[in-house]
Amino acid sequence: MHENPANIPRHVAVIMDGNGRWASARGKPRHAGHRAGVKSVRATVECAAERGVDYLTLFAFSSENWGRPVEEVSKLMGLFVEALRREVDDLHRNNVKVRFVGALEQLSDGLQKKIAAAESRTADNTGLVLNVAVAYGGRWDIARAAQALAARACSGQLAVEDIGEDTLEAELQLAGVPDPDLLIRTGGEQRISNFLLWNLAYSELWFTEVLWPDFDKAKFDAALAAYAQKQRRFGHTADQVEVATC
Ligand code: FPP
Repeated sequence: MHENPANIPRHVAVIMDGNGRWASARGKPRHAGHRAGVKSVRATVECAAERGVDYLTLFAFSSENWGRPVEEVSKLMGLFVEALRREVDDLHRNNVKVRFVGALEQLSDGLQKKIAAAESRTADNTGLVLNVAVAYGGRWDIARAAQALAARACSGQLAVEDIGEDTLEAELQLAGVPDPDLLIRTGGEQRISNFLLWNLAYSELWFTEVLWPDFDKAKFDAALAAYAQKQRRFGHTADQVEVATC
């Protein structure tokens, strides 16, 4: 993997919000907003790769989104299948490694097969790692990791006193991936909405009023520029950080 350019976040996570409002403002059904959002996904993936970001994690469907009207959920699932069919060749050509995280067993067999095929086709790619979170919830992720540790402890493979941050982190969906340096949320709300609760502990947060279908490369660059201005302290003082980076 290439050297990460100075001040470019290694890992960017994105909450893609505002598709429904974008569609309503145009008198269109909500799914038209999701469809328009695919174009922003493409622009964001391209821009992240061009700017030297190593990992991009997109929140495509939350655990809670199952509670939306049946028609919207089914149209979204159809859109994921279609996007996989249409985009995987291009992603592969651009050396992008695609991974899906979340309760994938909740998805239809057809979608699960397409996901597995996309993952195995791009598995050896060495460029941008694109994580797509589907049927994902931050609390679900942590609870599942705790369950895995409990199972190992009960079977005697893990001593209870050895359970700590590292052992729990190794069971999370994004195990082995550095924490997001930057979280972008479109659509005007300023909350985490049960996204990567563990991994976002020290991430810089960047919010914009722009609705996801209107998000483009210029907006992504604006988020990167805001990030480049930040001094990340991870709980230390400004003096300590300045000495360490001299
Ligand atoms: C939130 O907007 C958006 C979603 C729940 C779906 C995101 C999905 C896409 C952009 C489709 C393509 C994704 C991939 C990875 C191919 P919202 O519906 O909550 O908007 P609202 O707040 O305006 O109602």
